[in-house]
Order: sequence, then C-alpha cells, then structure tokens
Amino acid sequence: MKFSLALVTLVTVASGFPVIDTANEAVLRKAAKLASRTVEIIEAENAQNAKRPVKRASLPLPKDALGISRAETNCGPTLPCLAFDAEDQFVSVEGEYAYAAPSESQIRGPCPGLNAAANHGYLPRSGVASIEETVRGMSKLYNMGIDLAAALAAYAVVIDGDLLDGTWSIGGPQQSDPLVPILGNGQGLSYSHNSYEGDGSIGRLDAYTNKGDAHSLSIEKFEAVYAVGGNDTSEEGYDQRYTIDKFRSRFQDVQDHSIATNPYYFTGAFSTVVVVPAAYNFVINFMSNHSEEHPAGYLDGYNFKQFFGVTGSPGNFVWNKGQERVPKNWYRRPSSSPYNLADVFADVGIGYLAYPETLKIGGNTGTVNSFTGVDVSDITGGVLNAAKLFEGDNFACFAFNLLQQGIPHFLKGPLADINNATSFLAPFLSPLLGKLTCPELGNFDQSLFNDFPGHKYSPTGPATNY
Ligand code: HEM
Repeated sequence: MKFSLALVTLVTVASGFPVIDTANEAVLRKAAKLASRTVEIIEAENAQNAKRPVKRASLPLPKDALGISRAETNCGPTLPCLAFDAEDQFVSVEGEYAYAAPSESQIRGPCPGLNAAANHGYLPRSGVASIEETVRGMSKLYNMGIDLAAALAAYAVVIDGDLLDGTWSIGGPQQSDPLVPILGNGQGLSYSHNSYEGDGSIGRLDAYTNKGDAHSLSIEKFEAVYAVGGNDTSEEGYDQRYTIDKFRSRFQDVQDHSIATNPYYFTGAFSTVVVVPAAYNFVINFMSNHSEEHPAGYLDGYNFKQFFGVTGSPGNFVWNKGQERVPKNWYRRPSSSPYNLADVFADVGIGYLAYPETLKIGGNTGTVNSFTGVDVSDITGGVLNAAKLFEGDNFACFAFNLLQQGIPHFLKGPLADINNATSFLAPFLSPLLGKLTCPELGNFDQSLFNDFPGHKYSPTGPATNY
C-alpha cells in the first residue's frame, strides 16, 4: 500500500490526528513519500516472516501489575522469547559494523542505544539519520519494531530535526545549509528538553541542575542504578542481574531525588510521561543478551557498562564519552519477538500501575520539594481520571494527545511551521492511532502548567558533537 496525499488526509481524518489545511504542499508530499517507503519496509519484513504476530496498538494492562512486573522477563510484556536462533540473533561487530569512536564532526547524544548504534555503523556514523536509516538500523541491531522506530524517528524529525531533509540528529544541532531555514527546532536530541528529553532519567542529570546539559552521563547516577543489579563489585560484573521491575523501582527513587534537588523539576509532557520511563525499559528490552542459555534475555554488569560506555568497577567507574559499544558475542531479541509500540505503552503502563507514585504529572514550583500535581481530568477535559487512565486503550490515547498538544508549545515557530510539523507526523502516527479506541480528549490549556518554571525552561546548546 502506498500513501498518497489523499490517503494521508483520509487516514488522519478517520483517526483524529489532524492534517492542517495550511500545511506546505511540499512537506506533505515529502512525508507521504517517506511514510510510503516505511510501509514498504514493513511489508517486506512481514512477508519475510509471515509468522510474526500482529499486535494491537495497545495491550490490555493487568490487574496484578506489581506481580506481573516482578515476574516479567527481559523480553517484554507479551511474547516470552522462548526460541533461540544464533543466525537470526547474532549481532556482528566486525567489518562494516566494527566499533569506531566518533570523530570531531560526528554527533553523539543522550541515548546510549543510539550512540552505540552509530559507533558500529548500524546508524550513520555521522549521528544524523533519515527515518528509513533509523528503521533499518534499529531493526537490524535491536529488533526494534518498525512501527516504533518509525514513530520515534518521525517525532525526532519534526520536534528537533530538519523537516526539509527528513533527517534528525542523535545529539546536538545539525549543521544545515544556512540558506534553507530549518522548520523544526533543529536542536537535536541533546537540546530537546521536555519535547523529547526529560527530567528523571536513568543516567543523565536533570537539565536545569546541570547547566542545560542533560546528555552527559552522571557517573554518580550510574553508580546508583548499577547497584540495583546486585553486589558483584568485580570489574567484570558478570554476576549482576537487571530486571525491569528493579528499574521501575529505581525510577521512583530517581523522581524523589529530582523533587528534592531540582527546583525546575517538570513532568507534564510526553517526554516525561512516556519517553523517560520507556528509556529505563529499553535498557532491559534492548540491551539484554538473548543467548542460547537465556533465550528470554539477561543483562549483567559487563554488558550494561559496554552499552553505556562505562569502564572500571563500582566506586571507580569512568564514563568514556562517545565510547558506547555493542558487546562482542551478544545476541539481540529474536525476529519472532520484535519490541514495538504496543509493548512500549504496556510496559510504561505496567510501571505506573505497579508503582503508582511514579505517575507524576506536574512539577516543582521554583523551589525544591514543592511538587504539585495537575489532575489528569484537567488535562483531558474531565474525560479521564487517574483510575480510568489505564482502562482499554486510554493510556495510549492520553500519551498521543500529550504528544500532539505539546507540538505548538515546543516548536515555538510560526503557525505554518507548526502545521507542517503536525502534517509531517500524521502519516506515521495515524495508522497506529487508527487502531485505538480513543475517547474525545480535546485540547487542553497549556496555561495549566504556568506555575511550573520547568515547563518553559528550554536550554539550547553549542553545535558541538556531544
Ligand atoms: C529511534 C530510536 C530512539 C530514539 C529516538 C531515542 C531517543 C531517546 C531520547 C530522546 C532519550 C532521552 C530521554 C531521557 O531524558 O531520559 C533517550 C534516552 C535513552 N535511550 Fe533512547 N532512543 C532510541 C532508541 C533507543 C534504544 C534502541 C535503546 C536501547 C538499546 C535506548 C536506550 C535509551 C536509554 C537507556 C536512555 C536513557 C539514558 C540515560 O539516562 O543515561 N534508546 N533516548
């Protein structure tokens, strides 16, 4: 199936993600072309693996969430990765995929999964990628679901990438032709505070408490998360074991620490409600080794450190900036169990249900320990509340609404640019949104967040590679 402009409009009308009349025709054409190519990749993959299970856009959330969280394997919330197939899962780190540290001009940023991919050539080593390159690279290296990779990349293009080129940067600002203005912010992931990157991260400090730098690893934070995996203090760390439940519990501690130290702590955005907790879950679901002995996957201290570019032993860890690696003899999740968008929402939802205190929407009001929450019903026009949020498809609907509502605030551009961005994103999100049964959530007033200085805090960075 190819996307035509007409189809884009049709699909988005049906699913509620708007294509705006005043969007630039060229941008619409570009988005349709890119989306069409992505659909071709999906179809080719599906044809190759007819047995691949088709998942819904969101998955039912369990009643006994804490029990489920504790029992969850490193393969995710649905399919248990029982099979092992060395040929399918072995990840090459030789030849064209050999490790090379980034050169001066090559960009790296806040995401160790992307940095490692670029250091091994699974993403362009430059650190600037197209949607297609992202989909292919994430699928080959991590077996990330194509729907997930395409949505993550398309959002990056519109929110902090280059809409005209259809590219995005995994780190700082892209060098672009000064004659062609960037329609989005063009700041890259490193300076996407609140729009993509958010407070309460697993290893990076909150932007405000680190002079705007939320992309460099804090070794103290890494020490703390490393310790949740056990007491193996050897340099190898082979006996450490990390599970998603341990990370969900760690997320709660990190949030508490942020509230006590960051007067600008803010959590009222798609980035903090979905991306930040999802990133904790990505460590388990994408960095685990799915070996023959452990097909469901296990993550030890050694592989955790390799992916995060850390060497040394507890108490003496060193972060080697830009040196994130895919470990040798590492097996990714099997092709029969991709981790896709439905898994992301299920895993983030299970986390909130298992550790209800982690569902925080609001922020500190300019001093530490002043966290004030905004009611879910105020953001959803009274349609949802904290209890209803996890019924049916509601959580995924709420997340998409937060994402969409945030675009005008974060882009800060003229209306036409905002419309272009929304229209660009539509063909990537609409096929997924179309599968959800969503209540009418409507627009909410961003002034609800006026009391939180962290909402407006938006550091921009130097055009350095890290
Ligand atoms: C297209 C794909 C991806 C995009 C656009 C993306 C984007 C991001 C962004 C914006 C952040 C900052 C979030 C925060 O503030 O905590 C982040 C962090 C993170 N990502 Fe990714 N990511 C992608 C793929 C992956 C993959 C495949 C993995 C794992 C292999 C991964 C693991 C992580 C982790 C662990 C963090 C938190 C780092 C820290 O706090 O130290 N990501 N990513």
